[in-house]
Order: sequence, then C-alpha cells, then structure tokens
Amino acid sequence: MCGIIGYIGEKKASDFLIEGLKRLEYRGYDSCGIATADSGKLSLRRVSGRVGFLEEAVEKKPINGAVGIAHTRWATHGIPSEDNAHPHTDCAGEIVLVHNGIIENYAELKEKLLVAGHKFKSETDTEVVIHLIEDKIKSSNPPFSTSEVENGGFESVFFAAFKKAIADIEGSFALAVIWSKCPDIILSARLHSPLVVGIGKDENFVASDVSAFLKFTRKVVFLEDGEIALVRKNSIEYFDFAGKAIEKNSVDIKWDSSMAEKGGYKHFMLKEIHEQAESVENTIRGRLLPLEKDILKKEIGLDFKDIKSLSHVQIVACGTAYHAGLVAKYIFENFKIPTYVDFASEFSDRSKIIDKNTFLIAISQSGETADTLCAVREAKESGAKVLAITNTVGSSLTREADYVFYTHCGPEIGVASTKAFLGQLSAIYVLAIHFAVMLNKISYIEAEKYVKELIKIPRFVKELLSRSDEIKKVADKYSDYEHFLFISRYVNFPIALEGALKIKEIAYVHAEGYAAGEMKHGPIAIIEKNMPVICIATNSKVIKLLAGNIEEAMARGAKIIAIVDEESKKHIKASEIIEVPKTLEMLSPLLNTIPLQIFAYYIALNKKCDIDKPRNLAKSVTVR
Ligand code: F6R
Repeated sequence: MCGIIGYIGEKKASDFLIEGLKRLEYRGYDSCGIATADSGKLSLRRVSGRVGFLEEAVEKKPINGAVGIAHTRWATHGIPSEDNAHPHTDCAGEIVLVHNGIIENYAELKEKLLVAGHKFKSETDTEVVIHLIEDKIKSSNPPFSTSEVENGGFESVFFAAFKKAIADIEGSFALAVIWSKCPDIILSARLHSPLVVGIGKDENFVASDVSAFLKFTRKVVFLEDGEIALVRKNSIEYFDFAGKAIEKNSVDIKWDSSMAEKGGYKHFMLKEIHEQAESVENTIRGRLLPLEKDILKKEIGLDFKDIKSLSHVQIVACGTAYHAGLVAKYIFENFKIPTYVDFASEFSDRSKIIDKNTFLIAISQSGETADTLCAVREAKESGAKVLAITNTVGSSLTREADYVFYTHCGPEIGVASTKAFLGQLSAIYVLAIHFAVMLNKISYIEAEKYVKELIKIPRFVKELLSRSDEIKKVADKYSDYEHFLFISRYVNFPIALEGALKIKEIAYVHAEGYAAGEMKHGPIAIIEKNMPVICIATNSKVIKLLAGNIEEAMARGAKIIAIVDEESKKHIKASEIIEVPKTLEMLSPLLNTIPLQIFAYYIALNKKCDIDKPRNLAKSVTVR
C-alpha cells in the first residue's frame, strides 16, 4: 500500500502535492517523491524517509509547475531508498509515473524491455510501467509528426500508449502519469487499488483517497476497477480500459480529514479489519496457480534442493504473529511436515535442537521485533535456513533471513494486529501448499483442492464483513462483562488465543484462550454466569467434542457465544450465534478470526478505550 496524488491547475502544484502526501503518509512512509512539469521540462525530488524530508528538500530547491504527481511509499519490491522511491521516469526523463499496487508480471516485462534497450534505475516492479509507456509511445503507429503535435496529437499518442501499457500489465495498480510534452493532462487508471478524482475550481486532483485533497475540494468521483481518468484543469474524461468513454457521477464528501485518512472509519483498527479481503487477496495473488510453475524459486529463490533434507519446520514469532505460527503448525502437519512453534522470547533453549536440517520460519509484521530477530540469529548460528514472513520491506528481519516472503497488507497503523494476521495466515497457506507439493507430501489434485478454496476466501471475508452489525449487536450486549473465556479445538485453538488477546489488549478486559478439551482439567472451575464463553465451532472433525464442551460450560451457567457455519450450527446450542461462511476446516481460521476482532473492537469502543493506541503497548517492540 502506497499513497499517490496528482494535481493539475493554475497554482504551484508542489504546495498541494506535499500537503496531500502528509495526509497520505498513513499509507506508507519509507520514502517519497514529487515531480512537476513546467515549460516542457520535468523536475523531480525524491528522498528516503518521511514526507517531512521531502518538504525540506523542496523548500531548499523549489520546483515549479502547475501540474505534478507525488508518492509516499510502502515498499513491496526493492528496499526503501531514494532510487526506489517514486516518481519513476522513462529513459529520456520526459514521462513520469507514480504507482500504488503490485505489478505481478514485472520480471518478464522487464526482460523484454531490457532487450529493447531500456535502462532501469531502480529495483521496483513499478519502473516497468513507465518504460512500457515510453516503448508504446515510440512504436506508436503512425509515429507522431509535427502536424500531429500542432493538432494536440501528443495527447492522443499518450493516451493510446497508456491504454496499451496497462493492457500488458498484470496485478494491481492505481497510476498517475504525466508527460512533459503534454503538460495539460494527467492520465490515471485503477485496477484493484483505490483511486479517486477530486474536482476543484480551475484545478483537479487524483489520489489514493480523499484525505489527500479534502482541504481543497469535497466533490469527488470514485474510480472503479478497469477505469481511466484523463484529467485536465477544467475537465475530466472517463474511459474503460478499452478506451470507451464512460459517464461517472460525483459525490460530496462529508468526512473530516482525520475520518478521511481512516476511509470514513472511526479508527484505523476498524479500517484495517475491513481491508482484510485485500490482505488475503494481495498475499495469495499470483503465488498459487499454476502450481507447476516454480513460483517460490522465482519469487524468493527457494526450490526443492533448499528443503529436500528438511527434518522439521521451526516457527518463531511473538504475540499475534505467534498465533499465526500456531495455525501454521496444524497446516504444515496436516501435510505431514513436522513443525514446532515457539515464542521467539522463549526460544533460547530450544535453539539447541536446531541444526542445518531445520527450516526456520520467523513471522513478524514489522520485521523489527527484537525477540524474533534474536531467535533468528541463534537459529542461524546453529545452521538453520531462515525464511521470514513479514509485511515490511527492508526491515531488519529481511536482511537477516535467507528467504523473504512478503505479506502484501500495506502498513498496519492500529497497534492491534488485524489485517497483518490474515496476511500472515495467507502466506502460511501458500508456503505450506508449495512445500507439501515440492516434498511430495500431497498430490497436485489435493493441492488444488486447497488452492481453489483459498481463492474464494477474499469473497467470503467481504461477505462476513458486510454483516459486522450483527457482531456489533452481540458485543453491545456483552460490553459489561469483566471476564471472557475463548475456546476451540484443533486448527482453531490458536484463534481462541487470538480472540482473547485482541480483547485484552484493546478493551482491557480479562480474557483467556483455552483448548476446549483442556477445560475439564482446570479452567472449568472458574466458569459461572459472569464468564461468557466464546466458542469457535465451525465445521470440524471435532465438532461433536466441541458441542460437548459447550454443554459443560452452559451447565455451569455461562452464556455461550458460538461462531458457527451452516454445517456446524445443527450441533451447537448457544445464547448467541454468529455464522461465518463455510470453508474447508484447514482454512477456517481466516474467517473465524474476523468476528472476534469485530467483537473486541466494539467492546473497546463501548468502553471508550484508546483503540488505535492501547495503553502500555507499542506497534513495534524493539526491546527484549
Ligand atoms: C497484537 C500485536 C502484537 C504483535 C507482536 C509481534 O495485536 O500486534 O502481539 O503481533 O508484538 O509483532 P510483529 O509481528 O511486528 O513481530
């Protein structure tokens, strides 16, 4: 996730663009840049680091022009650095582009563009797009002539080249491009990444979200996937990707600017909960099918020879990421790959049983958690190969690991981890399926069964999120309780732990997560009417056992809140039923987590807690 903005009007573009970037910084903040066009020339400033540095650079060396684009980056391909910061330019330094999203086929496009003589200056996936546009302009047929230029021919050439370039790219993108030869337009397009047009008086904007220009206009047009905007200072035309003109309606935005940054949600946490379909989709996209293609080799340099002598997988992580690790144990072991999971902070002694045949997976959203980094160092000293699952390009973990598998969730601002967790789970499914196939633990046919279902998950997540109000009603009813017990079994036992962690950290309510079968060995003693029990009871080979555990809790006066699906609900008696879409048991953690996040959120809201910044907590724990 990155933030893009474009301005075209009569005033100094850089003032609007820097102001807009400050509002977009929540979307990414590892590097940023700005470009404007003035008198047929481009000016460019880029910095590694936050928008404040860019502002200083532009103050020191101002850039003119009434048209420009800017970008704040959250790296996905290539470390955060000035060279990798957007905007990116073509070889001639005439066309300039900003991009939010991921170009999945960038490697093959780059190969062709290199052969065609293009010179690349960054490690990003984005840069191929600008060279592609340059290439299409060069090969435009018929080539543009002086008379065409006089008749405004550059615009039609630019538009045609842009259209052709986006037809060649796969993945997700929100793009804004300017060409110094036709400084009266910005071209912009959207596929699977947000893009909105702001309509001002004698000036117009494009941006990743309305917060970027809300100070200047509240009249906006939301682009849909597959749409292009050709933006002039006094008019905007809309097209589909085939170039057919389309009509779009504007809307007036009523949000204040802090609400706008949060996409209209009251808190980043709620916004991030609602971004989880994208977290799953972006993390699995292009990485699953067809399985025969050696995707892991291509993407992270890992192939069969790197894992063929693997004796077991060892996972280290902290907090929510540790819960993702616990789910991973069930997934890998379901595919007959022995797996151990440890809190990174408790790994010290375990590291004695690590050797060169151990494949260590470290999971960390930030990639900066001190305990996780220490565990990785110890494991490496013992000879283990290390794979990092992280959301943060260029983080310390990525530099220490042998292989890095990114979750593509965008920055997570709320301290409580939500969308990063779903990204971590998605990464684990992708890796486990590939490992199982490479190690001949499962057949392609069996792998495909998981792949086919995994692809449906983003749709199920959206469906579930659209019913958030039902979960809010349950939370409203239970907001005054002081204790909760979360239970489940098997692959959803870690989700019980995660549900309890969420409510503890953001609502400051005592909660315990327990393996349901363990209740009778102790915890059942504390069950009474003031201890609601939340049971994750979706379809499972252990559903009847779970139903029995629920009966035991009910018999002791507890209210039961059950997470069920259409299959399991016939087995379950409960005070409250929350139904989630039915999926394979192995994949169900991806869905079952969501009601628990929403439940915790609304309880915290009712208690007026500081949800995005809970007391005593920090987003990145860099001390041991
Ligand atoms: C809980 C939470 C923490 C983190 C933990 C690890 O909601 O956010 O428990 O999961 O501090 O952080 P990362 O994943 O950055 O290593």
